[in-house]
Order: sequence, then structure tokens, then C-alpha cells
Amino acid sequence: MLAVFIIATALALVAASPLQSPAEYSSLFGRDASIVSGCSASGSASCHNTSSVSNLCCFESPGGLLLQTQFWDTDPSTGPSDSWTIHGLWPDNCDTSFEENCDPSRAYTGISSLLSAQGASSTLSFMQTHWVDINGNNEQFWEHEWSTHGTCMSTLRTTCLPSGSPKGAEAVAFFQTVVKLFQTLPTYTWLANAGILPSTSATHTLSSLTSALKSGSGVTPSLDCNGDTLNAASYYFNLKGSIIDGTFVAIDAPETGSCPSSGIKYPPKSGGTPNPTVSPTTSGGLPAKATINAIHSGSPLGGLLSLGTWSTQTLATFQISGTMSSFTMTSSKGTCGASGGTFSCGSGVASTTFSAVASGSSLLLMSGGSTSFTSDGIPSGTTVFDVFTGSSHTQDFSLEIVGI
Ligand SMILES: *[C@@H]1O[C@H](CO)[C@@H](O)[C@H](O)[C@H]1NC(C)=O
Repeated sequence: MLAVFIIATALALVAASPLQSPAEYSSLFGRDASIVSGCSASGSASCHNTSSVSNLCCFESPGGLLLQTQFWDTDPSTGPSDSWTIHGLWPDNCDTSFEENCDPSRAYTGISSLLSAQGASSTLSFMQTHWVDINGNNEQFWEHEWSTHGTCMSTLRTTCLPSGSPKGAEAVAFFQTVVKLFQTLPTYTWLANAGILPSTSATHTLSSLTSALKSGSGVTPSLDCNGDTLNAASYYFNLKGSIIDGTFVAIDAPETGSCPSSGIKYPPKSGGTPNPTVSPTTSGGLPAKATINAIHSGSPLGGLLSLGTWSTQTLATFQISGTMSSFTMTSSKGTCGASGGTFSCGSGVASTTFSAVASGSSLLLMSGGSTSFTSDGIPSGTTVFDVFTGSSHTQDFSLEIVGI
């Protein structure tokens, strides 16, 4: 087994060399190959420049405030019972406003294959245990984190990469950096060191949690709660150099999270692994943010874009508000509605209410009490189709709401 692994690693290194890339593939056996940025990490940290910086390959801007966000998911439980899990690495502007989805042309799919093909298998295996989606859709979660946040990082623009870098090398570097940074932020251990362990009965004050984490990390993270239950932490940084290999400078959170000041619960996880079969309805209803995936002839096939069309391209994020029996949805284009038999989202679209029904492990979208949606064709590549409610058109499919 070990021999096979070493051969595979050696092949990955051999495969990398004919590209004549100046990228240095460092670290052998059991560790990932990685590119180098050529940037110095001795200049000013992001958000701390006093005059305009022109080389944004070596200076993260405008998203120079970086948040390493983590989850503590217990309902359903994801990841190891003694570790928080990765949500992502988000570039905020220095004033905490932020940009998202900056380059749809680099919204890569197939992150697992990309990581394996470019010598990042150990990053991938860590992600499979510690960067896990609450519904088991890891691949989609990783694609989302990269396309939504990673594509906004100036130091990861393709023009910043060593020439000859393979397609997607900057996304590989993104995942490697997020994993490495997360490994320096052991929230579970820091809380445990202060005697704060998951419990079904204990409650905590916000200040006891943040001071435990400050003892560990040296800075104050922000903590988010779902009601009074702790479920996310964000560690803030500025960056010297490039996301690829720069130095993260930890800072106190410039904003507070959503936890109350006292009575905070930190419940144990129920199991050691993500459970893709738990119905999202058991976590207390609808996700507030979701992608909408299409199921055609029993198999997943793309989903909805921000205008409400059916596509196999990168799916849009929908904001959902209301209850299972009556909710409204919006995309980045505007409100969603079904009128005259057509489903769409946009600024001129009149909002209508939808409902959802649990079906097995999934949550299906209903319009007018029906889970049937139809179109005039099956999307592929850049070809998208309008979505009609009910079964009036030729291709029928259902739409699954997947929380993100
Ligand atoms: C820092 O550099 C960025 C990028 O050039 C620029 O937009 C920003 O205005 C600079 N900040 C200051 C205070 O000069």
C-alpha cells in the first residue's frame, strides 16, 4: 500500500516536470506538491499600506481582511467529534464589506480530481474528513467556497501564477492554504485546554469562550450561534505576500458574531462522520441559504442559475426566508416567482411563495403544491433552459433545496 502511494506521488512529480514550470514542487512523500509565488512576505500586511500598491499578485487587495471560518455542526453532526470543521477562507475588504463570485470563468468543478491530478492528495484527504458539507455534498461545497470566495483573491489571479502552471493551480493553492491555516487554529483543543468541552447541559458566557480562544490563538475570534447554540468561529487575518505562500498575521475580530453574551450551549457531536442521509428538516426547518439542484430521471443534473434557469454550470445561491409551508426566495438577480407557469428570478419578478417537502434525505421545492417542474430541453455546457411549473413542457424534473 505504501509502495503504491509512493509510486503515485513520484508519478505526479514526474508529470509536473515536462511543463517546464518554474514552480518548485516542494516536499516529497506524503506531503503535497505546491507552487511558489515568488513574493516576499516582508512588505506591509494587507489593509496596512499607506499608499497605493500596484502589484496585487503579492499584496491581497481589495480583500485584505481574511476570515478563516469554522463550523461546529451537531445537528446533523459533521466531521470528527473532537474537531471543528472548515467552512472556508473569505476575503473581506478592509472595511468588512466584501466581494463574491469574482470570476465565473474560473468556477472550477471537480475539485477532488483537480487536487489529485496536481499532487495535492494529502490536502484532499484532510478535506474529506475536516471540510465537510452538512448534507454530504462535499464536492459542491468545495466548488462553492472556491468560486464564491477564492476567485476574489487578487494574489490568486492566473496572471500571478508561475508561467506554465496547469489550469486550476491557483485553486489547488487555495485549498492547500486553507487547510494549512485551519490546522494552526485548533478551536476544539483551545476550548478543551480551558476546560470547555462539549456538553448537553453546560452553558457558557461569550467572554469565557472568547478568552479561552484568545489564550490559544493570541487574538479574539468572532463566534456565531444558531439561537443560543455555538456553531461557528471566524479567525481574522491580514496577509503579507500571496495567499499561495504568504504570512497570515492574526488580528482581533473587527466585528462581533451572533452569539448572545451568556447561556451559550456547546453540544457534543453525535457521531464521527458526516451523515448524508439525515433529512435537512430535522435541523429545524429550511436552510437560509441554498443551491437548488435538479433531479432528472432519478439522477442529479445541474440546477438553477440566478435568473432561475436550469443549467449544468455553477449553481446560484438562493436566500430563503419563511417556513417549510410558506417561504420566499431571492437570488443575486432579485426575487423569485412563478407566474403564468414560468419560474424566474429578477428585479422585475413578483415574489410568490413556495413550500418544501422532505423526500427521503432531500428537501424538494414545491410551487402551487406540486414538486413537478418542466422545461423544453436538457441543459448541457452553456445551454440553459427556462423552468416551468407543473408538467406542461417535455422534460420533467424535481428541484432539491440544498443548504449551504
Ligand atoms: C492600498 O493599496 C490598494 C491597492 O493598490 C489601494 O486600493 C488602497 O487605496 C491603498 N490604501 C492606501 C491607504 O493607500
